[in-house]
Amino acid sequence: MKFFIDTAEIDEIRALAPSGLVDGVTTNPSLIAKSGRDFKEVVAEICAVVEGPVSAEVTAIESKAMIKEGRALAKIADNVCIKLPLTFDGLVACRALVDDGHQTNVTLCFSANQALLAAKAGATYISPFIGRLDDMGIDGMELIEEIRTIYDNYMFETQILAASIRTVNHVKLSALAGADVATIPPATLKTLTKHPLTDKGLEAFLKDWEKTGQSIL
Ligand code: E4P
Repeated sequence: MKFFIDTAEIDEIRALAPSGLVDGVTTNPSLIAKSGRDFKEVVAEICAVVEGPVSAEVTAIESKAMIKEGRALAKIADNVCIKLPLTFDGLVACRALVDDGHQTNVTLCFSANQALLAAKAGATYISPFIGRLDDMGIDGMELIEEIRTIYDNYMFETQILAASIRTVNHVKLSALAGADVATIPPATLKTLTKHPLTDKGLEAFLKDWEKTGQSIL
């Protein structure tokens, strides 16, 4: 399973990159607004730090304008993945940009039928939003399972990018459901390393090591 980092904060990305856990980055207009940075500038910086796909979202709502914006975003760097909303116009733009040879991430997916359409439009990634469904009392994980079944039934190559991840449990369940990628907020990624028995065990090892009076270097 690949891990993308769901942030537009370049310092957070730089801090996590040496871990080897960052296979890509996703941004959205809200994350760009939160960063307070110039959109194209910050995307260029992220693309220079991370080798994998960096999702940058169009903001037009009509297909021709989306295609124009998508082509402009793709010029920023080779690893830009053009993010498009799951609307009819978004799917038209997806097909045109895929035919151009660009990577695409179809976002704001809340149903299996929407995911089916995105695959038929040739999307590189489909982003089902787990957390936002859970917020409404709908099991977001069921959506991942349904999409996995449909994509496997028809051997679609579109990758399932589990998005709107809020908890470490979302990461585990997405992996169990066969999502290809999870896009994870930096804080959640760090929390994945945590276990109280790890902390307790490490504390005991370090105490015992101290008693030996030895040092490795
Ligand atoms: C990722 O591509 C999405 O934009 C992001 O995961 C949305 O997460 P949120 O529902 O926490 O805003």
